[in-house]
Amino acid sequence: MKRVALVTGGSRGIGAATVLRLAQMGYDVAFTYRAHAAEANAIARAVEELGHQALPVQLDLEDLSRIKPTVDEIAEKLGGLNALVNNAGYVQRIPPEELSLADWERMLRVSLTAPFLFIQAAVPHMKRAGFGRIVNVSSLRALTGSPHGVHYAAAKAGLLGLTKSYASVLAPFGITVNAVCPGFVNTDVNREQLRERGPELVRQIPVGRVAEPTEVAALIGFLCAEEAGYITGATFSINGGLRMD
Ligand SMILES: NC(=O)c1ccc[n+]([C@@H]2O[C@H](COP(=O)([O-])OP(=O)(O)OC[C@H]3O[C@@H](n4cnc5c(N)ncnc54)[C@H](OP(=O)(O)O)[C@@H]3O)[C@@H](O)[C@H]2O)c1
Repeated sequence: MKRVALVTGGSRGIGAATVLRLAQMGYDVAFTYRAHAAEANAIARAVEELGHQALPVQLDLEDLSRIKPTVDEIAEKLGGLNALVNNAGYVQRIPPEELSLADWERMLRVSLTAPFLFIQAAVPHMKRAGFGRIVNVSSLRALTGSPHGVHYAAAKAGLLGLTKSYASVLAPFGITVNAVCPGFVNTDVNREQLRERGPELVRQIPVGRVAEPTEVAALIGFLCAEEAGYITGATFSINGGLRMD
């Protein structure tokens, strides 16, 4: 059976690794990116080299009105939609007393409202197919809080509530909804932090290193597999033992 996936923020980091993983699993893959067109085109070529269709779409998640038309267009071009990975996101390190309402609203829009709208737009296509896999990329910070990113932690914790709510609503339709909470991953979002405090951070991680994006992608990929149909409403930590639940 032909399978189509959509990954938000697929041009770099965890999203790019997930796009490739899903293509290796047999999915045709659409993905969004905001600014890095050259990286997006390189990932698309890699998907095509794996023998699958790729559809990169420029979309700033702040532009909420474009989400539903984009999802519908992707489903039309690729012949349906069976998996959605809400991955796009950014980090802003800022003390709470300096956080403006605009900073707060932008974070909530990109990291919580946009995923909600992607799910809302994707569900009719998944129901039509009688099969759906939704994975929301949350964060360790949803579980621990973040003194230098209260808006980030709040948005990522909100994603967990969204995950569980949709999981119960969509279970009868063959659609699963799960969340992953990565710890420190070797990507651009924490490049600076890793450069400045890398050794100190790594000392706190029982596994003794940060994660590679491919390791998070492998978990997301499994949750998008047919055989993961009994897993829903679950939150998966992938943090090298930094926090054990
Ligand atoms: N890396 C970590 O340690 C870590 C830990 C926990 C959770 N996470 C979460 O994992 C997800 C992926 O992070 P990453 O580390 O892979 O980040 P990354 O390497 O910086 O990649 C971020 C991706 O999201 C896209 N993006 C960012 N802001 C966007 C916006 N406003 N509109 C549309 N697209 C946007 C980027 O597009 P462009 O390439 O075009 O800019 C890029 O594709 C995020 O949700 C992040 O919060 C990461």
